[in-house]
Parts: sequence; C-alpha cells; structure tokens
Amino acid sequence: MLILGIESSCDETAAAVVQDGKTILSSVVASQVDVHRRYGGVVPELASRKHIEAIYPVVEEALEQAGVSLNGIDAIAVTQGPGLVGSLLIGLSFAKALSYARGLPLIGVSHIEGHLLSIYLEKDTPSFPYISLMASGGHTALYYVSDYTGYHLLGQTRDDAAGEAFDKVAKLLGLGYPGGEVISRLAEQGDPQKINLPRAIISKDSFDFSFSGLKTAVANYIRYCRENQLPMPYEDMAAAFQEAVVDVLVDKTMKAALQYKVKNIVAAGGVASNRRLREALGAAAKHAGVKVFIPDPSLCTDNAAMIAVAGYQRFRRGEVSGLDLDAYSKNRP
Ligand code: KG4
Ligand code: ZN
Repeated sequence: MLILGIESSCDETAAAVVQDGKTILSSVVASQVDVHRRYGGVVPELASRKHIEAIYPVVEEALEQAGVSLNGIDAIAVTQGPGLVGSLLIGLSFAKALSYARGLPLIGVSHIEGHLLSIYLEKDTPSFPYISLMASGGHTALYYVSDYTGYHLLGQTRDDAAGEAFDKVAKLLGLGYPGGEVISRLAEQGDPQKINLPRAIISKDSFDFSFSGLKTAVANYIRYCRENQLPMPYEDMAAAFQEAVVDVLVDKTMKAALQYKVKNIVAAGGVASNRRLREALGAAAKHAGVKVFIPDPSLCTDNAAMIAVAGYQRFRRGEVSGLDLDAYSKNRP
C-alpha cells in the first residue's frame, strides 16, 4: 500500500511516498529556514505564503522521485495539527483537493504521532510496550507506548520545549536561528564543566520537564559577562547548556523506563538528532540493560514520511477523515 504524506505544520513543506508504513520511496523537504533566519524565528504569515509556493512542486517531486503517479497512490495522509494554523491549512487544503479530485481516502494525522512513529521507517524497530521521548521545537514529552496508536502521556514540559530552549538560548547568544544545530556544533569545542547551570528536576515522582529556568540562568550569565566586560565563552556555554538539557532528558527517560519496566526506549523529534543526546541516552540505556531506538537525524526533524507512517497505521484500522477535516493549533488531549 502506497501512502502519500503531506506535512506543512511549521516552516518545512514536505511530501513523501511510503510503502506499507515502512519503506520510503521518496521524502522531499523544502525548508524555509533562509526566509525566517533574519527574523530570528518563524514568522507565521511568511510561512503560510512560502507553503503556498512550495506545496505543488514538493508533492510533484515526491511522486516523481517515487516513480508513481497519483493513480498508484492508495491514500493521502496529511498533518492536521498541532502547528501554525495558517501553515497547516495549506497542506490540508491541498490534500483535500487531491482527495476529492482523485477519489482518494484522506487521513488527518497528528504531527506528534508522526514523530512518535518515525522509528518505523528504520530497519531495527522496537517491540511494544516502550517509553518514547518526544523532543522537538514545539513539544517535549514522555509517553508510554502500547501500540501504534496507543500512547499514554507520562509527563511534558511545563514551559519551553527542549528545542525551543535551544533556539532561545542561541538567540540570547546572538548565534542565529535555528539554534539546535548551531549550539550542538559549538558545544563540540567547549567544556561542559566550566559553567555551572541548573537542572530542573521538578519533583522525583514527576515526568514533567521545565527549561525556562535554564534559559534564565544563561541570560543572567550573559548579562554578568557584559556588565563586567568579560569575554563570552561561547563554546563552553553551548556545551554547558546542551549538557544540562541532555542530563534532564536522559534522567527522566531512564526513570520512566525503570518505573514502567520496559525493555525499549525510543527518542524522536528534532532534538533527538542531537549527537550528545543520542550518545548519552545510548550510554545510560546500555548501563540499565535497555535498548534505545533513535531514527536517523533526517527522520528526527520534520518530514512527511513520518506522516505517511502515522496515516498508514490509522488507515489500516479503517480510520478515514472527511473533507470537513480542520486544522488545530494545540496538542489534543
Ligand atoms: O521536530 P522539529 O523539526 O520541528 C518541530 O516539530 O518542532 O524540531 C525542531 C527543533 C528546533 O527547535 C531545533 O532547534 C531543534 O529541533 N534541533 C536540535 C538539533 N537539530 C534540531 N536541537 C538540538 N540539537 C540539534 N542537533
Ligand atoms: Zn516536528
């Protein structure tokens, strides 16, 4: 079964063709990062306009690279939310039009579910149940996953998402946008021990996260350096900040794995492409006798192949959306 996935929730216009919820025949991602960089973050109105320009060629390219026409597609999966509503509506309207014109089934998919299921695009996949750490620019949460569509939320961030913290700290340091990649690159040359930053654990029994205190600590350090005319140790700060985020993510994920007695852990979302996080989670899991599954970095950041996987799993269970399918901005309970 061939699913055409369409994703436009934030600043990437993406389309992919995936076979049987597993094999990527094509995955095209058009990034708008150059458009938003000069503003230091995503400008929603500009994002919507860029999606309009990109959606048709991106979908066409995905079909072409997969070597199929719409006649060969069995269903269309599209991101319904959460995300920027103006952006989501472009993908949604495009998918609805294709579905109506071609009589193809339409499946609305949660962007988060897409990230969570992105691991099924890899050869080595986990058996249920497992703990999934979802860390992106909009979300940071831990889930107990019992099957392809059964997730139990264990905890989530009370303020900033992990990726958002990377982006905000990069902005504070004047390093540009997006922050994750820049900070992780700088951190390779820094010493994480030189600057002491807080780890918000909240409470021992909670699986919630908090990253705003860490961000404030970085801001205070920057102010201290400025007021005292001290040079800013960019590399050490990047390394210390990254280590503080990674410590908390790994700590809570391992606690959840032990408490729920699972043998497998999955990490997903843009932050899961972070090298240090992959390494630290791998080491902690090995120590605990738990296996870690993390998709290739290109599948951690936003893409439409993961949307096709989530669509496939829902379609397989007989779930189809109507043409009245609407976008939603916030995560659904
Ligand atoms: O999953 P994603 O592409 O989009 C959302 O659904 O939000 O995640 C984007 C987020 C951004 O905040 C970006 O700074 C972060 O993931 N990110 C990283 C890295 N690459 C991307 N964070 C830390 N280290 C990275 N290497
Ligand atoms: Zn995402």
